[in-house]
Amino acid sequence: MSKTHVLLFPIPMQGPVNCTLKLAELLCLNGLTVTVLNTEHIHRNLLRHTNVLTRFSRYDNFRFETISDGLPDDHPRSTERFVEVFEGMKNVTEPVFKEMMVSGCFSKISKCPVTVVIPDGSYSFALDVADEVGVPVVYFETVSPCALWTYLCLPKLIEAGEVPFSGNDLDVPVKSVPGTEHFLRRRDLPGFYRCDNLTNHIMQTIMNEATHVPRAHGVIINTFEVLDESILVHLRKVCPNIYCIGPLHTLFKSCMAIEPKPVTQMHKSNGSNSLWEENRSCLSWLDTKPAKSVIYVSIGSLAIMTVDQFFEIWHGLVNSGKPFLIVKRPGSVIGDYDDNQVPKVLVDATKERGFIAKWVPQEEVLAHSSIGGFLTHSGWNSTMESIVEGVPMICWPLYVDQQVNSRFVSEVWKIGIDMKDTSDRVIIEKAINDITNVRRNEFIKSANTLAESAAQSVTKDGSSFKDLNRLIKDLNSVS
Ligand code: UDX
Repeated sequence: MSKTHVLLFPIPMQGPVNCTLKLAELLCLNGLTVTVLNTEHIHRNLLRHTNVLTRFSRYDNFRFETISDGLPDDHPRSTERFVEVFEGMKNVTEPVFKEMMVSGCFSKISKCPVTVVIPDGSYSFALDVADEVGVPVVYFETVSPCALWTYLCLPKLIEAGEVPFSGNDLDVPVKSVPGTEHFLRRRDLPGFYRCDNLTNHIMQTIMNEATHVPRAHGVIINTFEVLDESILVHLRKVCPNIYCIGPLHTLFKSCMAIEPKPVTQMHKSNGSNSLWEENRSCLSWLDTKPAKSVIYVSIGSLAIMTVDQFFEIWHGLVNSGKPFLIVKRPGSVIGDYDDNQVPKVLVDATKERGFIAKWVPQEEVLAHSSIGGFLTHSGWNSTMESIVEGVPMICWPLYVDQQVNSRFVSEVWKIGIDMKDTSDRVIIEKAINDITNVRRNEFIKSANTLAESAAQSVTKDGSSFKDLNRLIKDLNSVS
């Protein structure tokens, strides 16, 4: 077994857990010893809905470990209460993690000590603990490079008086985020920058965490060079050692195809990491629909919306006349939602040309030939998955990095429409008509060009493939 033992420690959200498990598998396949440390809550859901244990049991160089997130089992862990998750991590997880590292408990289990820690980019406590035990850290930033850049620029934004700001004057241009001066407005900054004073808890946390990023040996990002070159050039001035290994989900498939592994380690690569049970029957429903006709709607794993917002989106879809597939994750619509009170016009249209599921195999849905557009919350993983498949987006960003991601979709990559701050049915209907009809050619052209660049980046000569090999070499050399 390799003497390089990597401990991966993802933040407990679906998107980051998805790509951490993909990275873990890539490292295993390259012979490194890997432990993934999940919160108990995430691990329970993985076991309930996936065959993840069976999949990883093929690797004798892999272990799962779990740690408490400090919250009761029935806590919703939704975006609006994510501050409590951060607090639980600080009060409970942090000291337990320290104890685990100091006592060498990971080495007892896998028979070799941890030689590198790869925590989520927002876990500066892991950096402190690793420093204490003398182990190097490479951060895994699971948000977009453009969002990370706005986090790193926060002190500058504050000094220039551009942050904080209230809900008024959201269209004022932002000047203190180099590389974005021509298109970034206040409304495109991370959601928690919209506040009256600097005591905002999440903003303080993000600012504190961001100051630690340059301390790490390197930073792994789920992107590819061509996509984010205009931001990477600035990021590298602060963190010179960046590994761009995205799109991670396709890099994995590509690595398997380029360098087939021993038969005992081979398996189908599309193993699910879903925290909810997937409704796969939506795929046969999609089979019945014409090419590029269906609008797919999802707001990811944590975001929530009100009943009114949900109905506005639903009306917009129905009024567009297009077939639609909506993910209505349990708990994602808050307020007095009652199936019996859904307007008849929505019920009838849905029977005729709609499909509503609690959770779907999203990568497969986006890859389906009948998908014509993606109405998304602009979470980074959803954005990358859509880019890979060349699917134009209608963005309805809600929190964290989503506001800046959606601005890049519309103004930098020009592969969709940024609805930002509205879910009005008329605007949704118009956006659907734009991406499927009026501006279709324009969006499809840029989306296809980006999809080709994404595919190229994971080939043997591609930038992401090379950066993965550089990462593995570096992990071995610092161990
Ligand atoms: C969170 C934040 O919300 C997001 O802003 C940040 O960029 C990453 O962390 P999340 O809400 O999980 O992410 O959104 P996203 O990053 O888009 O990830 C969602 C994941 O869930 C995707 O990988 C997607 O494929 C998957 N998914 C979503 C499903 O598998 N099925 C579904 O029905 C919906």
